[in-house]
Amino acid sequence: MGGPDGMQGRVAVQGLVKRFGPVNAVDHVSLEVSSGEFLALLGPSGSGKTTILMAIAGFEYPDEGRILIGGEEVTWAPPNRRNLGMVFQRYTLFPHMSVLENIAFPLKMRGVGRAEREERARAALATVRLGQMGGRKPAQLSGGQQQRVAIARAIVYRPRVLLMDEPLSALDKNLREEMQIEIKHLQREIGITVIFVTHDQTEALTMADRVAVLDHGRLQQLGAPRELYEAPETVFVAGFVGETNFCEGRLARPAARGEAVMVALDGGGTMPAIAAQALPAGGRIKVALRPERLRVLPADGEGGTARVTEAIYAGNATTLMLEGQGGQRLRARVPAGAGLHEPRPGEAVRLSWQPADARAFPA
Ligand SMILES: Nc1ncnc2c1ncn2[C@@H]1O[C@H](COP(=O)(O)OP(=O)(O)OP(=O)(O)O)[C@@H](O)[C@H]1O
Ligand SMILES: [Mg+2]
Repeated sequence: MGGPDGMQGRVAVQGLVKRFGPVNAVDHVSLEVSSGEFLALLGPSGSGKTTILMAIAGFEYPDEGRILIGGEEVTWAPPNRRNLGMVFQRYTLFPHMSVLENIAFPLKMRGVGRAEREERARAALATVRLGQMGGRKPAQLSGGQQQRVAIARAIVYRPRVLLMDEPLSALDKNLREEMQIEIKHLQREIGITVIFVTHDQTEALTMADRVAVLDHGRLQQLGAPRELYEAPETVFVAGFVGETNFCEGRLARPAARGEAVMVALDGGGTMPAIAAQALPAGGRIKVALRPERLRVLPADGEGGTARVTEAIYAGNATTLMLEGQGGQRLRARVPAGAGLHEPRPGEAVRLSWQPADARAFPA
């Protein structure tokens, strides 16, 4: 377990490849997690999230690449030599043991004496705020409480890294949101590295310091939640993280990444945008624009550029469904109470946006 204390919880995945027959479950993924950092692995079903976690845990061995924990290579080390905690989607508590016995179990396996086991299990139980429930059986707890026991059991032997695979997906929405905040607090409190798998983008954005977005086993983008949302680097990330409008068209001239461009839209009209990647001339372009970044203004004397087809009131905001002059379908979000124009269905409107909020990708 060499290396100074500040590196104990560092995890590095280098050029990881894992194939299952013809499927590239993980396709040359490299990423680094700092000690004490909270990283979310986000992606649709089958994108390779669990496989990456299993390779870090030592339950899958890679076809190519290396895994380092605390600066030490563990690619071929068995799981019990890696000092990691794991929490899975479904409750994996032993039904015949009490809550305290469940939590003390990993300590027993490690040969810790009875008195110390009990003391540490009680402390871990208090950390997840279930201090009074040590005598109960798992079946006598709610789903959220059972997941907290699973977390207590995963941290009781003070691992350097905690791996979690969709630990909240079996819980209902309110409990899930409560547990998201609790896990985040707990992680800060004990200063542990967390790698957290989810396919829920809101969960990833709210909980993580950084998010790794995966698609078909490939790392699409790794960045802070704000970077992913504000500056997606691929069409996939733009569409998967948050809600977005896509407008299609072509570009007359090639453009370098970051350059201001004018996209000729398929249905007619032009759209100022920023090149999110290098863009070839004449190629098909997709422009991504968030609904809340689209400003809807009253049509002035020159006539409207879009028509409202539907207005959906949702309390805090109204979603407008729009049809552009070229037939493009867009949605805009108008926050309530800001004194903004709230047009009615059928009304002609003028649309405005900051070119930097419209990101152009090769289609
Ligand atoms: N043991 C296995 N044998 C064969 N194929 C597998 C195996 N495990 C995973 N795969 C395949 O590898 C790919 C990635 O699977 P993985 O479980 O890592 O995805 P995931 O992102 O965790 O998906 P989900 O959100 O559904 O849990 C999928 O195509 C899956 O079918
Ligand atoms: Mg999975």
